[in-house]
Amino acid sequence: MPVALIKSLVFALCLLPGVLLGWQFYQDQLGANPIEAITHNTGEWTLRLLLITLVMTPLKRLTGWYWPIRLRRMLGLFAFFYACLHLSTYLWLDQFFDWPEIWLDILDRPFITVGMLAFVLLLPLAVTSNRYAIKKLGRNWKRLHRLAYIVPVLGVLHFWWLVKADVLEPAIYALLLGALLFARLPERKRLGKAKTSPQAAG
Ligand code: HEM
Repeated sequence: MPVALIKSLVFALCLLPGVLLGWQFYQDQLGANPIEAITHNTGEWTLRLLLITLVMTPLKRLTGWYWPIRLRRMLGLFAFFYACLHLSTYLWLDQFFDWPEIWLDILDRPFITVGMLAFVLLLPLAVTSNRYAIKKLGRNWKRLHRLAYIVPVLGVLHFWWLVKADVLEPAIYALLLGALLFARLPERKRLGKAKTSPQAAG
């Protein structure tokens, strides 16, 4: 299948949860607390897309296909898109732009602190995801984009912290994330082998 077609399909699929949510909101189908439903839905899609973005490199390694790499930027930007919706819902519909109250909330509730930190770290990734920034930043671009591993860790922590009793769902995300981060380790480290020089390896 041509890459352009795969990209268009994935684009439509990534847009679908947002369209569905908008439709359910319009149809008044989001239950008794639509704001909570929107916050939960957009938060979950942010986290899912952050994880799906991390699947692309191991998928390429495993299959030898190149197209997963071509999807990474789009998937990461969709994660950012849902994060923006998630944050806007909180700032606008939940807190009514009451900045002093928001500031207190960030300081008082650890899960909000961590969520905010995750969003702040996601910002430079989104801003520098274009070709111009890749050229301009050179080697530093790769360094900066290591934040793509830290942001989902913070996202899982944020989720874990907010659920009081039933940690099953955040635990599943944590397990998946752990597996994905493990899969990204160089093979030598994954197999627990010491670094050997060619001479020592003889
Ligand atoms: C990359 C950034 C973020 C990710 C991945 C993320 C992810 C999530 C997830 C997965 C949930 C739980 C959804 C569920 O219960 O099914 C959630 C809930 C929530 N998040 Fe975030 N979030 C992020 C940033 C933020 C930010 C910046 C704020 C606000 C400053 C925020 C505020 C909230 C709130 C208020 C809830 C609902 C809490 C409740 O149920 O009482 N999140 N988020």
